[in-house]
Amino acid sequence: MKRPCSSSGYYFCLMNMFLLLLPVRSQLTTDFYKSSCPNLSKIVRREVQKALMNEIRMAASLLRLHFHDCFVNGCDGSILLDGGDDGEKSAAPNLNSARGYEVVDTIKSSVESACSGVVSCADILAIAARDSVFLSGGPFWKVPLGRRDGTVSNGTLATEVLPAPFDPLNTIISKFTNMGLNLTDVVSLSVPIQLAEQVYIV
Ligand SMILES: *[C@@H]1O[C@H](CO)[C@@H](O)[C@H](O)[C@H]1NC(C)=O
Ligand SMILES: *[C@@H]1O[C@H](CO)[C@@H](O)[C@H](O)[C@H]1NC(C)=O
Ligand SMILES: *[C@@H]1O[C@H](CO)[C@@H](O)[C@H](O)[C@H]1NC(C)=O
Repeated sequence: MKRPCSSSGYYFCLMNMFLLLLPVRSQLTTDFYKSSCPNLSKIVRREVQKALMNEIRMAASLLRLHFHDCFVNGCDGSILLDGGDDGEKSAAPNLNSARGYEVVDTIKSSVESACSGVVSCADILAIAARDSVFLSGGPFWKVPLGRRDGTVSNGTLATEVLPAPFDPLNTIISKFTNMGLNLTDVVSLSVPIQLAEQVYIV
């Protein structure tokens, strides 16, 4: 399956329907792909490294892409979908500022070459964001895996919940608080990204 993360394929709809029929939704685990894609972390690390060597700013872009994905219906990769005018990509907080989509697609295609049709785009983005932070000298954390890719990209919701460039500080803080994030998270996610992007966006 060589499917880019930008297309919501029929196959994945079928897969999601099948999963809904399962009685218990499995928990995320850090070794979710241990047997189905043992080289996953190596592959993602190598591709992120290449992307950062090409342009260090991409580290901030991938982290921002990940948290902008997570704010809208959870970390389900829905920001990656080509959702037309109503998609998350076209929502004001993302339009002309969210970037790195092609890097995620490159990582996805390398992962697909090693283990086809196994790893979700949402998980790839989550690992890529962690590696971006780690490879630029930030902290390392273990990424729980096993996310399913969403098939709905809701631009209206994205506009509502994502911090916007001209939101006053208290609105930005409350948008983070709504996601279970605190002031430390506001600073960690906003400041490095503003510096790297050289514009005042959150
Ligand atoms: C994982 O990568 C190593 C080389 O780095 C390779 O020898 C091995 O076959 C790969 N395993 C799988 C399951 O693709
Ligand atoms: C998108 O989000 C809006 C605002 O929360 C909601 O009213 C609408 O039903 C959602 N649309 C879909 C397709 O989920
Ligand atoms: C925010 O939460 C983190 C982790 O739960 C904690 O380490 C940090 O001290 C908190 N920051 C504030 C300002 O409460």
